[in-house]
Amino acid sequence: MIEWREADRQLHLANGHLSYILAIHENGALGLLHVGAPLATGRSYRHLVVRPFRGFSNRLGDPVALECPTPGAGDYRMPGLAVEQPDGSTVLELAYREHRILAGKPAIPGLPSTYAEADGEAETVEVDLADVRSGLVVTLSYTIFRDVAAVARSVRLRNQGPADLRISTAMSLVLDLPDAGWNLVHLVGAWARERQVVERRLVPGRQSISSGRGSSSAAHNPFVALRRPTTTETHGEAIGVALVYSGNFLAEVEVEPYGTARVRTGINPETFTWALAPGEEFATPEAILVWTADGLGAMSDAFHRLFRERLARGTWRDRPRPILVNNWEGTYFDFNEERLVAIATVARDLGIELFVLDDGWFGKRDDDTSSLGDWFVDRRKLPGGIDGLARRITDLGLAFGLWIEPEMVSERSELFAAHPDWAIGIPGRPRTEGRQQLVLDLGRTEVVDHLARVLGEILGSGPISYVKWDMNRWITEPWSATLRADRQGEFFHRYILGVYELYRRLTRAFPDILFESCASGGDRFDAGMLAYAPQAWTSDDTDAIERLAIQWGSSLAYPVSSMGAHVSAVPNHQTGRVTPLATRAAVAFFGVFGYELDTTALTDDEQAEVRDQVAFYKKHRDVLQRGRFHRLRGPFEGDGNTTAWMSVADDRGRAVVGVYRVLNRPAPGPDRIQLRGLDPDREYRITVWPQIADGVARANTLTRRGDDLEAVGLLIDLDRHEAAGYGDFWSRLFVLEAA
Ligand code: GLA
Repeated sequence: MIEWREADRQLHLANGHLSYILAIHENGALGLLHVGAPLATGRSYRHLVVRPFRGFSNRLGDPVALECPTPGAGDYRMPGLAVEQPDGSTVLELAYREHRILAGKPAIPGLPSTYAEADGEAETVEVDLADVRSGLVVTLSYTIFRDVAAVARSVRLRNQGPADLRISTAMSLVLDLPDAGWNLVHLVGAWARERQVVERRLVPGRQSISSGRGSSSAAHNPFVALRRPTTTETHGEAIGVALVYSGNFLAEVEVEPYGTARVRTGINPETFTWALAPGEEFATPEAILVWTADGLGAMSDAFHRLFRERLARGTWRDRPRPILVNNWEGTYFDFNEERLVAIATVARDLGIELFVLDDGWFGKRDDDTSSLGDWFVDRRKLPGGIDGLARRITDLGLAFGLWIEPEMVSERSELFAAHPDWAIGIPGRPRTEGRQQLVLDLGRTEVVDHLARVLGEILGSGPISYVKWDMNRWITEPWSATLRADRQGEFFHRYILGVYELYRRLTRAFPDILFESCASGGDRFDAGMLAYAPQAWTSDDTDAIERLAIQWGSSLAYPVSSMGAHVSAVPNHQTGRVTPLATRAAVAFFGVFGYELDTTALTDDEQAEVRDQVAFYKKHRDVLQRGRFHRLRGPFEGDGNTTAWMSVADDRGRAVVGVYRVLNRPAPGPDRIQLRGLDPDREYRITVWPQIADGVARANTLTRRGDDLEAVGLLIDLDRHEAAGYGDFWSRLFVLEAA
């Protein structure tokens, strides 16, 4: 997969899906010859360098494609790396020293990353560039995967010189593209409306997204895509770049005056510096690059497969995820053991598999003003302890799960009274509060040790098989008592390294627990978290219509198996909207399915519906959680009134299609939803869910060939009299089974 041509000083990474070709320039700089369509190996591509790079001294500002650009020597674009030396200068002359081609993929110490299970699955090349004067050695690492159109890239910096160095920018990836004829696609949002798709033409200058909040955040997601203006879901070039990181990030594109585009992503340099003493090493997070000529759908599929199968890990990676009921929207803080057992008992009767106890079980937490940090059970509410409740739940035949928020402390808590200095803040300055809580300094080892111990005790105290790990505020007044004044720039990165360390310890200690990450819903929904928690609470917004947009946007990079999606009560607690129970389920089915309501409040009719939903999901869970996901029509397209998507089993023997219509408009015209990913030559028997004998069911309950279903599509032709009765928020699922 990786070819080195000594005579051409060229490295060619190729896997039949894409080529990534590097060359060493005359001055030793590492350059990019080509990224994109697969090109033949066994050939030189040196002719792609029109102007050999000898440094910028003769033609200042030439837009040569560089892999590790540094400032101050004629490349006026954004740097990939900036390192301050003892004299205060940041100029480096990084020149090729050697490279190593390795089978498989080495891990990145302390950071989450994709991996290979067998050596043949991936190949890695590490290229060392050295700056003789400072003694800095930069190792650029590239892994190409055999079966996915993806390259993983990360950087290691080693100080082999005699003096302290200070890193101020260390991007994980720099990608110099020869033209700027792309649209930038990215995901923006806020609490309860995360990951909305935004798109804009690249224009001269810099366009960037970032976080400085301590988490990757709902405001921007550490993922961007470039697509040609003509690229669709199924055709055309697309490049996706995702950062495997959960802290402050930057993703940026610069279009420079000659019309080329430089993409870079990594730790946000605005809130980062790192001291590198002689002998020390620093590793950046990894960035994943996907290239395809087959549209945004193929780009997403590459991310989905890689994230689901070679980023997520542990016992739950490949196991069917349980259908859960979570008590949060059902009870909020107002519960006791009997009420929880009552909810679980009904849930069990409905076929639900896991009961999750959310916030409020510890300390004296009757609202959100106290007790975070006091991870011991509140016996007023749960006299039998976690163990007592967990046993009652498991005796019912349900698994038991628990909510925790390890990174936080309430001022009203025993932990804060004992260790006020563990909370992040600057002595002598007021602390900004968020949700009446403070953030613990996870950059300190004693804090991580303490949390690993107390949480280990709780998680080991009973039959717990699931943990929801929440994180409900951003970081303010960043400063750590354990860092020297000139190292405070390390604060944010050290915080997230501490989070990863705690995750690592708890997931190792409890390999059978399914971890779900959460941050006020989807505030830390990123590839870094997926390495520890294979699923995440997608959003606190459980409204079915809002979820169409949130799940659609999330699916650009993240697999369906990572998106927690629950049916909740109406009027919806976030929007006040009243949607049919069937539509709430039909949306949540395209996620890791569950309920977030008081099951004892369901009427008999609703219980019957829920029983049917649970049975449906169990029957098609494999396809819904792990099938190839296709976005057919979306909330960000046209008038956004119709959304349709589908998941297809790997053997194309079964598929589930969801069609959703937001507002009911009178006298609708006929509509056709063209399907994807089917076997054109096979016959598919179509059934409609829920089973309502209306015009849509009559038009589609047929056996049709895959080619017919792809070329012509499902027939959404609502009878105008029937349609009048549907009201808004209509949905229908279609199950296709190969005959
Ligand atoms: C956050 C989570 C919710 C719930 C509450 C509990 O908002 O996203 O799902 O767990 O905290 O306080």
